[in-house]
Amino acid sequence: MTDDRSAGIIERYRDHLPVSSTTPVVSLGEGDTPLLLSEGLSERTGARVYLKYEGLNPTGSFKDRGMTLAVSKALEAGAGAVVCASTGNTSASAAAYAARAGLVCAVLVPEGFVALGKLAQALIHGARVVEIEGNFDVALTLTKEIARSGEITLVNSVNPHRIEGQKTAAFEIVEALGGAPYLHLIPVGNAGNITAYWKGYREALEVGWSETTPAMHGFQAEGAAPIVTGKAVAEPNTIATAIRIGNPASWEGANEAVSASNGSISAVSDPEILEAYTMLASEGIFVEPASSASVAGLLKMSDAKRIPAGATVVCILTGHGLKDPERALAMAPDRMKAPAELDPIRDQLGLD
Ligand code: F0G
Repeated sequence: MTDDRSAGIIERYRDHLPVSSTTPVVSLGEGDTPLLLSEGLSERTGARVYLKYEGLNPTGSFKDRGMTLAVSKALEAGAGAVVCASTGNTSASAAAYAARAGLVCAVLVPEGFVALGKLAQALIHGARVVEIEGNFDVALTLTKEIARSGEITLVNSVNPHRIEGQKTAAFEIVEALGGAPYLHLIPVGNAGNITAYWKGYREALEVGWSETTPAMHGFQAEGAAPIVTGKAVAEPNTIATAIRIGNPASWEGANEAVSASNGSISAVSDPEILEAYTMLASEGIFVEPASSASVAGLLKMSDAKRIPAGATVVCILTGHGLKDPERALAMAPDRMKAPAELDPIRDQLGLD
């Protein structure tokens, strides 16, 4: 392990990742994100609630941890291009790391359901973006077909290097807390991330960084909750577009994490997600709606008396609020207008 935190997760956790001294490292300095104590949520739930702010990765989401490794390995294997299906963040991350590596990046996204910031990122980094008339699940099926031919590497989380990279977030949590938390709460879409964290916690236990592993609790949006209902959802629907997924690729990984850790997968409604979203914003923490599913889940568990007093809880905040400016503007108070004169401005501000 290197102490150089700006070097990215491959340099930092090289001994725990499938790289050799000849693997070209494509990094944007991802990882080492803050673990913030939330006083508001701790008070409300009676637990010690920490927020892992993954929106502070280079492209604004946790995807960068997996993408640095997936793109480095693609380059090492001699690929000329990478391809992914995405609800937005994977494409933004793939586009950035592919640009850094000098690789072509192809992206399939569901038309009309990708937040503006994510689309802007993928396009400005030069990705070839195709909006399809179908949801993420359809896009992923088509993308797998595209990756079957030629020297194109699939960089969705079905690529095991993505999971390997993303597990490093669990290492960071264990390092920051001096061991694993009691509960780990996380939004679930395609279920790669819950799979990755569980792998990370288990490995941290094996190497002696922690004496325990947490109970893993995942949260899907009510209109896109196939793991909760046990049945694929043909037309998933939620304002949390990042997790608008009806047939998760890592379904088994999620089930394994939950059953081995005595955890659960539950649903949170769009109003519950948005309540958590504005609550976090009122504490100075700006996330995209899907990210606040973990906090919505925390509040629900707390109301159901499922959070033991004083327990250490980590909620994962997966993506930055700037990804989805339209949602923020829709939820926030209106702007005020005034002529450029002090009195009417004072009136508007209501500060006297
Ligand atoms: N939160 C955000 C902000 C996401 O972008 C995603 C997934 C998730 C949570 C769920 O993570 O899929 O590993 O269970 N976004 C993918 C994408 C699907 O294409 O950007 P998961």
